[in-house]
Amino acid sequence: MSTPTNNKRGFWGSRMGFVLAASGSAIGLGNVWKFPYITGQNGGGAFVLIYLVCIFAVGLPIMLAEFTLGRKTNLNPVGAFKALQPNTAWVGIGYMGVVAGFLILSFYGVVGGWTLAYIVKSFSQSVLEFQSPKDAGQFFGQFIANPTEVVIYQALFMGLCMAIVIRGVHGGIERACQVLMPTLFVILLILMVRSLTLPGAMEGVKFYLSPDFSKITPSVILIALGQAFFSLSLGMGAMLTYGSYLSEKENLTSATVYVVLFDTMIALLVGMVIFPAVFAMGLEPAEGPSLVFSVLPAVFSSMPFGTVVSIIFFVLLAIAAITSGISLLEVVVAYFIDQVGWTRKKAVLTVGLIIFALGIPSGLSFGVMSDVKFMDKTFFDIVDNIASNYLLPLGGMLTAIFVGWKWGIAKAREEIEKHETRFHWANLWGFLIRYVTPVAVAFVFLAKFF
Ligand code: TRP
Repeated sequence: MSTPTNNKRGFWGSRMGFVLAASGSAIGLGNVWKFPYITGQNGGGAFVLIYLVCIFAVGLPIMLAEFTLGRKTNLNPVGAFKALQPNTAWVGIGYMGVVAGFLILSFYGVVGGWTLAYIVKSFSQSVLEFQSPKDAGQFFGQFIANPTEVVIYQALFMGLCMAIVIRGVHGGIERACQVLMPTLFVILLILMVRSLTLPGAMEGVKFYLSPDFSKITPSVILIALGQAFFSLSLGMGAMLTYGSYLSEKENLTSATVYVVLFDTMIALLVGMVIFPAVFAMGLEPAEGPSLVFSVLPAVFSSMPFGTVVSIIFFVLLAIAAITSGISLLEVVVAYFIDQVGWTRKKAVLTVGLIIFALGIPSGLSFGVMSDVKFMDKTFFDIVDNIASNYLLPLGGMLTAIFVGWKWGIAKAREEIEKHETRFHWANLWGFLIRYVTPVAVAFVFLAKFF
């Protein structure tokens, strides 16, 4: 087995720097674009409730497990499992993660490109011409059906992620997140006030906050679980990789709690912006991936300084997407650097280009390839579905089993308690990781298939 060298690894500048970078990975299109549209498609309040259960009972314990594995080994996901259990099949979890990173970033780059385009289109005011979300949605539909534009913006997004990852993980990422997160929060609060004061907004609040359990089926639960993994960047070693750049001085448990709370707060807040507006403006909540891009421009055009707000919002969203995109790219890149021995530059350029190419058919799925369907799903939907609803929960479940049963809670706890105060909820965490997490994921999979 090759012994990868760690001396090329940067470390986070500070504890807050790490929390912000990990939050930067977690907070992204998953919160702002995906969460509202799948909540809309899956019945509103009841979905939100199940999502929250998945976040705290399944996501939070796994995030701590990933941080711990990363800091213990200082390695990428493949290297980490190899180092702890040489010559066993457990390393498969690491490879699965690298594959998931490839797949997710391929379509993530497409949506990231949409946000960049909407910055440009806010400047030219073309997105703000529509008072009604139906017209704004039509405009968006035309835009994403245009192959050249979509692919150019996707390339731009990938290029930005690659430019940052080539410079290495800390520095740029940390500083960007420091400014971004609070600003995003403030602008969402402003937008929430605007949405809630639209006539008819309360219908949306009701849809969002009052659960209707008749809408819940096993597939809905699987989607909520997949979304919890997606939103927290779990199940493919992204948080493991970020943890690997962490020094032993840090407090893993409080970092985990902060990241989970920040991510969840942003998602819930976005819902309070979108749903009141959806109902007030007479749009369907089950609109799909175009939901946010139809509703928000209509909200912006209905408010004072709408153009400025729109520009600021899409800039923030693009940065949030980039800080997530780089964490996806970093997993794959770290693998090629540590395990294959490539230079960072070679890894970023090669991997970035391949992911971009793989993303092109996803980008075309809303236009020239919209009729290319397999089991009623477009290329975009298939890649998203395989990665988010299967690879991530499976990877998370296997990570939990690995930490809970193979590597062992005791060793994990020893790592967590290095240089830090006692791990007060160690027993609860051990219980969740050993029993609740694996059983919950397995149960959801089984329920879906039988
Ligand atoms: N969590 C990010 C979001 O919500 C996306 C993301 C970044 C991700 N890294 C990940 C998802 C790793 C799954 C796994 O937008």
